[in-house]
Amino acid sequence: MSKISVLFVCLGNICRSPTAHAVFQDMVLADNLEHKIHIDSAGTGDWHLGLPPDKRAQKFALERGFDMSELRARLVVDEDFQRFDYILAMDHSNLSDLRTMQTQNSLCNLSLFLDYCSNPQFLDYKEVPDPYYGGDSGFNLVLDLVEDAAKGLLDHIKARL
Ligand code: 4NP
Repeated sequence: MSKISVLFVCLGNICRSPTAHAVFQDMVLADNLEHKIHIDSAGTGDWHLGLPPDKRAQKFALERGFDMSELRARLVVDEDFQRFDYILAMDHSNLSDLRTMQTQNSLCNLSLFLDYCSNPQFLDYKEVPDPYYGGDSGFNLVLDLVEDAAKGLLDHIKARL
């Protein structure tokens, strides 16, 4: 049986989407579902290609037990719309960029990642705020939102397995 595949997308692929990648990967491993779910992340901007995640993103993620050190930034490419079942955008700007790339023959489910949040505390958040130019609290908010949405996404996918 082929795997269900999930691609997380932000602008630089060094803060939000690698955080989502690492957190979701951790949850998938904890449920022994790594043979059924394939995970990747990518960016719409090309400034950081081939680089590891932002040091601050890595530090705050590691404080919660998520290791992002092996991830490397890459661009979203047209083939991703054929290869992935789910492409999850961190904000409306990413979603709009992705919609312009998606062709009619692509069956992938393209949406905002935070559509999968369930904690009432976060229901007013439609986007994962970009932490790159901000302070430490931005990185912890990214983790709070990502942890909640990742749980919701995993529950949704488990119901399809
Ligand atoms: P990300 O954050 O989209 O969450 O990876 C950013 C990283 C870098 C830049 C912007 C956002 N940048 O302009 O270089």
